[in-house]
Amino acid sequence: MQKTILSGTTATGQLHLGNYLGALKPWVDMSNKMNDAVSLFFVADLHGITVPHNKDKLAAITRESAAAYIASGLDINKVILFAQSSVYQHPYLHWMLGSIAQMGQLKRMTQYKEKSNKVKDGASLNLFSYPVLQAADILMYKSTHVPVGEDQKQHVEFARDVAGGFNHLYGDVFPLPEPVIQAEGARIMSLRDGTSKMSKSAESDMSRINLVDDADMIAQKFRKAKSDSDALPTSDAECAGRPEAKNLMTIYSILSDVPMTEVYNQFGGKMFSELKSSLSDLAVEKMAPITAEMNRLLAHPDEIDKILKNGAERASEIAAPVLEEVKDKMGFISL
Ligand code: TRP
Repeated sequence: MQKTILSGTTATGQLHLGNYLGALKPWVDMSNKMNDAVSLFFVADLHGITVPHNKDKLAAITRESAAAYIASGLDINKVILFAQSSVYQHPYLHWMLGSIAQMGQLKRMTQYKEKSNKVKDGASLNLFSYPVLQAADILMYKSTHVPVGEDQKQHVEFARDVAGGFNHLYGDVFPLPEPVIQAEGARIMSLRDGTSKMSKSAESDMSRINLVDDADMIAQKFRKAKSDSDALPTSDAECAGRPEAKNLMTIYSILSDVPMTEVYNQFGGKMFSELKSSLSDLAVEKMAPITAEMNRLLAHPDEIDKILKNGAERASEIAAPVLEEVKDKMGFISL
């Protein structure tokens, strides 16, 4: 069976190391490893309007995400990279799947419950049907592998249920998509507080490594990261109550592609300062080329737009016949 990898992130802007280690790097690794698969990655800008958004920033934010994807190493000659809003079949399939999606199940979605409480003037219809659009994104390309963080697992499982429901009613059209969870990278924590996630909305810029930070800034932020005065832990068990040590060691492990056990061997029992200085060298070595490429692309928005346009055309070529198949199975007139 044809393997298809698909993932995306909601366009929010200000991407940081947590996004890179939790999403972008795993995508790159996965699409390199599974080179017999079709890979599609997109900026979920339609999901970006499920909560009030800034119309003056939306396009720039979309370009920033696309630039981050490319700078992180997605090879645009191999993978299809596009903005969700440019492939018109997505919202169309969303409507079709809406006749199968169960409101009871949507009401129980963790993300809906959290976000709907926060929106001042009440949640929009789009926030409620967010997972249905996400199911459309996934099923649009008959995706089989969906790499996501733990927080999106429920949405991929929802897409699976919708696919199963559709197949049951109308005949086999969709393979059941599998969530591929990137557990540890999804939990990169703040450099100032090891108990809260690295986030673009945290007040202190020192709490995160932004993908637009230059080498000096990266080094400085790791040097000034919060630490404690004990020797570094030598095992997961010893990390209990040491969230900052655990976080920096996790970042070291993922950036250098070595398992945590090796990081414990290398740094366990040593001083925090030693880890920090190695980590800051490593992060500069790995991140500086990415941030440089990101900044170069952002200075050439036309280049980004050209890539996105080409990606949208390639994505539509796959999406159009799938939508026709769906309409046909559901009994729509075909002219
Ligand atoms: N909801 C995802 C997020 O916020 C983004 C997304 C939209 C997505 N559609 C998707 C991820 C389809 C995987 C597959 O991160």
